[in-house]
Amino acid sequence: MPPSRRLLLAGLWLLGSLCSARAAPGGSGRRVTLHYNPGSNSSSVNLLHVRAVGQNDTLHYVWSSIGAPTVLLLYTRSESSTLHVNWTKLLSAAPAGAIWIEPAGSVVYSTAVIFTKVFEYSRANASAQEEQFYPTYDLAALSWRSLNGTLNHTALTAKFQGVGAFPNGTISFQVTAYEQSGRDSSLPRLLHTANSSKVEFIMEKVAPRSNSSRFMLEVVTVEETGGRKRLQSVRSIDDEYTPAIFEMAQLVSEPRNDTTSSSFFQWKTAAYGDKVASRENAIHCHYHSLQMASWRLLGPSIAHAYFGAGLGHGESLAAINITFGGEDGKFYAEKNYLSWSALLGFGTPPEDSFSPLVITIMAVALGTPVVLLLVGGLVVLLARRKRYSEYEPIN
Ligand SMILES: *[C@@H]1O[C@H](CO)[C@@H](O)[C@H](O)[C@H]1NC(C)=O
Ligand SMILES: *[C@@H]1O[C@H](CO)[C@@H](O)[C@H](O)[C@H]1NC(C)=O
Ligand SMILES: *[C@@H]1O[C@H](CO)[C@@H](O)[C@H](O)[C@H]1NC(C)=O
Ligand SMILES: *[C@@H]1O[C@H](CO)[C@@H](O)[C@H](O)[C@H]1NC(C)=O
Ligand SMILES: *[C@@H]1O[C@H](CO)[C@@H](O)[C@H](O)[C@H]1NC(C)=O
Ligand SMILES: *[C@@H]1O[C@H](CO)[C@@H](O)[C@H](O)[C@H]1NC(C)=O
Repeated sequence: MPPSRRLLLAGLWLLGSLCSARAAPGGSGRRVTLHYNPGSNSSSVNLLHVRAVGQNDTLHYVWSSIGAPTVLLLYTRSESSTLHVNWTKLLSAAPAGAIWIEPAGSVVYSTAVIFTKVFEYSRANASAQEEQFYPTYDLAALSWRSLNGTLNHTALTAKFQGVGAFPNGTISFQVTAYEQSGRDSSLPRLLHTANSSKVEFIMEKVAPRSNSSRFMLEVVTVEETGGRKRLQSVRSIDDEYTPAIFEMAQLVSEPRNDTTSSSFFQWKTAAYGDKVASRENAIHCHYHSLQMASWRLLGPSIAHAYFGAGLGHGESLAAINITFGGEDGKFYAEKNYLSWSALLGFGTPPEDSFSPLVITIMAVALGTPVVLLLVGGLVVLLARRKRYSEYEPIN
């Protein structure tokens, strides 16, 4: 490559980097602390409070495996708002009101995501039309190991591990909190802000009940009364960060008229079939339609403890099924491993801009003819001047 061309490429690369850095979500960082079972000495149940203090506001994430695995996201306009748990009430049959924030007036926005069920199904044979469903794994019915040993206060991670319904297998939810915006180093390399947290759904050594089993995760979201969730698909021609994956799906809340607060639950349409995620073990995942009006949240979860008993009959619920694997469903049987990541956050969802590489390629592709024209023009001009200068002495 000639030096001028190399310089041009370097310049374009720099430009690309600058463009994409500018488009990346900024925002100030947060001070994040993790508290396990605040106000209780028991480790037979799991409740993780992630407190993320910013400038004039605090985000509280409450993750728990009491009932169905659930996360509450509570946004408060106060640096000193505190989370309270009445454990007696929380572990009773009527947990409504067992989790609250003080001062109550500081809460500007609240939402919840509940992971209710894992379905397993397969097609008996290639010609069979109907899918056969195996008995469902009800996540509220699993036994959840103590979170205590998995808490990492530095990396801001914790892992909820559910066992019981399958010999030697686990269904886990690995949680990561963030203090700054950035991009995950492992696939699917989600872009995050300090206002978001990641949850990774992992199935490991859960013996499939057929050779071509596919799995489906059911996710329910709660929106404050009056708000609604909307399902969006964001497509891009750029797969630089997540090879071969061109779609991002997200559930965003449509805010009520009197508030601008909203949240998002976002995922790439990829799962991975090995502990070390790579392009080779990527599993396509697709989502089904969003269920709204008729949805009922059955069974216990900490969402009831915060939002109250009315939740089961609310119109503020939206639910979606996410399927992992294609028609043949062979992927899982290979390694008995599946992982899928999603991001939950306050505000507007992070948006992938074009990666520096793709911007450079586009700039080069679009720029080359222009550069050639310019260079061509310059050469002609110089040649002519040279000719004139050659002629001059003769004159
Ligand atoms: C925080 O609140 C103080 C006092 O209300 C205000 O002066 C300041 O601008 C606020 N800072 C931010 C980042 O909102
Ligand atoms: C906790 O809940 C129990 C049962 O509802 C109630 O009797 C008790 O007064 C509550 N404790 C506090 C501190 O609110
Ligand atoms: C495929 O499955 C259907 C019902 O599940 C069965 O009736 C049919 O005989 C099967 N076909 C073959 C080729 O095994
Ligand atoms: C579970 O693990 C035990 C001991 O490691 C082993 O003997 C048993 O065969 C395993 N069961 C299954 C279903 O894999
Ligand atoms: C899975 O495949 C093996 C051989 O490939 C076969 O022996 C076994 O019966 C199959 N199991 C099921 C549940 O279809
Ligand atoms: C998910 O799929 C299962 C099985 O088809 C169905 O019973 C359930 O209602 C679905 N849930 C949603 C949210 O679509």
